[in-house]
Amino acid sequence: MAYNLLKGKKGIIFGALNDASIAWKVAERAHEEGAQLVLTNTPVACRMGTIDELAAKTGSKVIAADATSVEDLEMLFSEAQKELGGQIDFVLHSCAMSANMRKKRPYDDLDYSLLDKTLDISAISFHKMIQVAKKMDAIAENGSILALTYVASHRTFFGYNDMADAKSLLESIARSFGYIYGREKGVRINTISQSPTFTTAGGGIKGFDGLYDFSDRMSPLGNASADECADYCVVMFSDLTKKVTMQTLFHDGGFSNMGMSLRGMTQYNKSFIDENRDENGKIIYG
Ligand SMILES: NC(=O)c1ccc[n+]([C@@H]2O[C@H](COP(=O)([O-])OP(=O)(O)OC[C@H]3O[C@@H](n4cnc5c(N)ncnc54)[C@H](O)[C@@H]3O)[C@@H](O)[C@H]2O)c1
Repeated sequence: MAYNLLKGKKGIIFGALNDASIAWKVAERAHEEGAQLVLTNTPVACRMGTIDELAAKTGSKVIAADATSVEDLEMLFSEAQKELGGQIDFVLHSCAMSANMRKKRPYDDLDYSLLDKTLDISAISFHKMIQVAKKMDAIAENGSILALTYVASHRTFFGYNDMADAKSLLESIARSFGYIYGREKGVRINTISQSPTFTTAGGGIKGFDGLYDFSDRMSPLGNASADECADYCVVMFSDLTKKVTMQTLFHDGGFSNMGMSLRGMTQYNKSFIDENRDENGKIIYG
């Protein structure tokens, strides 16, 4: 059901790769709610993914840009304002990548040049896009900027690797820039901490199926889907949330405040997994 929550608003959506992407669902919902959009992703992702399909569906223009490149971001904000006919009301940052994870480098054997890349793509790009937009005065008064995060920024999750550090930095940027941009132009900056979701990036996390199931069993409302995340993003872009800023907003069915659930305990009791031990018989707590 549509409520016209974004009627007359103009937005930029980063990170729709294919129809499993959370950004894809957000673009569809924002369009349904009356927004005009520009879609963006890296030149490679625009070629390899199916973003053109989404553009056709939502009547949007695709402008390729690497979110780690300040020049690309300047071009993007300038072209998007021309395309949409004025300042931007909302932006979604939905970009992440860990080359350490891709190359199966564990957290205690990180390649530091790959770590730089992880942080740049998954967190510093958020700072870059906000700084570029602010310098260009590209965001309208009371605009809303969102990024997607995961609870591994606060608590340790096996297999989440250097992405946990990237998400901590991402959330910190939302607070630090949220203060400055809020004070000066009423622009809100928040992150939404989403449940595990089956997407290209999600599938790159070690043991993702187990994590998904565990999270679902632990959450009183179950895991939140990408479509439900899109609903939340739309509300955060709308005028209904004008005084919400600098927050990490949990959209996870209650997972982040759980310790143990009945469904979790039942599953745990069933399995009594053999503990992982090293060659000396010592338990590996990894
Ligand atoms: N899937 C999950 O379980 C989950 C849970 C919580 C948060 N998130 C976050 O949601 C966001 C979207 O991920 P997704 O799960 O939809 O996966 P996805 O793979 O569909 O999206 C990730 C996107 O990042 C883009 N990207 C990578 N490098 C980029 C760059 N240099 N510039 C611009 N874009 C770049 C990719 O092209 C891709 O479109 C990410 O920030 C992810 O960490 C995902």
